[in-house]
Amino acid sequence: MIHVVRYDSPQDWAEHVAARFAAFLADEPAARVALPTGATPEPVYAGIVEAVSAGIASFRRAHVFLLDEFGGVPPDAKGRCDVMLHRALLDHVDVTPSHYHRLDPEAEDVAAMCAAYDAELKQPLDLVMLGIGRNGHVGMNEPGTSPDSATRRVELAPSTTQASVRYFGEGAALPTWGITIGLSAILAARTIWLLANGEGKADIVRDVLLEPVSATRPASLLRGHPNCWFFVDAAAASKLPVGVLSRG
Ligand code: GLP
Repeated sequence: MIHVVRYDSPQDWAEHVAARFAAFLADEPAARVALPTGATPEPVYAGIVEAVSAGIASFRRAHVFLLDEFGGVPPDAKGRCDVMLHRALLDHVDVTPSHYHRLDPEAEDVAAMCAAYDAELKQPLDLVMLGIGRNGHVGMNEPGTSPDSATRRVELAPSTTQASVRYFGEGAALPTWGITIGLSAILAARTIWLLANGEGKADIVRDVLLEPVSATRPASLLRGHPNCWFFVDAAAASKLPVGVLSRG
C-alpha cells in the first residue's frame, strides 16, 4: 500500500518534504540514500540545503547514490544528472566526496560498472527518493521494465528524450540512452518516497495509484512495497479521490 500525502501548495510541498528528509537524516546520519534529479526535486533540495546549513542535518556520514544518468552527451552538459545533483544539492552540503556514488556512462566497460554499482546496493538502501515520468517511469526504468531488473544501460523512450530538452537546453544534443538503478534495488529499499508536483503529473499519479498494477506503468509496481510514500502537491493530486489520501 502506498501512503499518499497531499500538500496545498508547491511551496508547502517542497518545505515539508525537505523537512522530512532533514529529520530522516538527523535520525539516521549514516543512511544510504538514492537521489533523483530533474525539475521536481529542485525546490526540495533547496530546502534540504537550508536545513543542512542551519545544522539540522548533515550528509557527512551518509552515502548518496545517483539514481540515474544520461549517456551519449558530454559529462559536463548541464542536463547530466550528476551535474544537476551537484548544482542543486551536493555543492552546497557537507557530503563526504568518497561517499558519493555516481553512474558513469563513459566507463570503458559499462556492464562491469553497473555490476559494481549493484554490488554496493546489495545492502538495501535506507531511502530511495524518486520523481516520476509522465509515462510512469521511475529512474530510467521505462514502461515494460521487469521488477527484478538490475542497474543497467537502457534505451530511453522517445518521449523521455524529448522531455530532456528542459535539462539540456534548446539546440543541445539530447540523450537517447542512459544508465539507471534497476527496479530490483528500488523495491528492496527500506523506504521509498516518490515526489510529484504540478498538473502535468496529475494523470500519471492517478493511473499509477488507481489502475491495475502493471509493468506498463513502472511506478505502479511500488504499490507492493511495505513502506512507500507519494508526496504530491494539490495540482499533482487533482485527479485523485479524497479517499486515497493518507495523513502525513
Ligand atoms: C526523467 C528522469 C527521472 C525523473 C523524471 C521526471 O527522465 N530520468 O529520474 O524523475 O524524468 O522528471 P521531472 O522531475 O523533470 O519532471
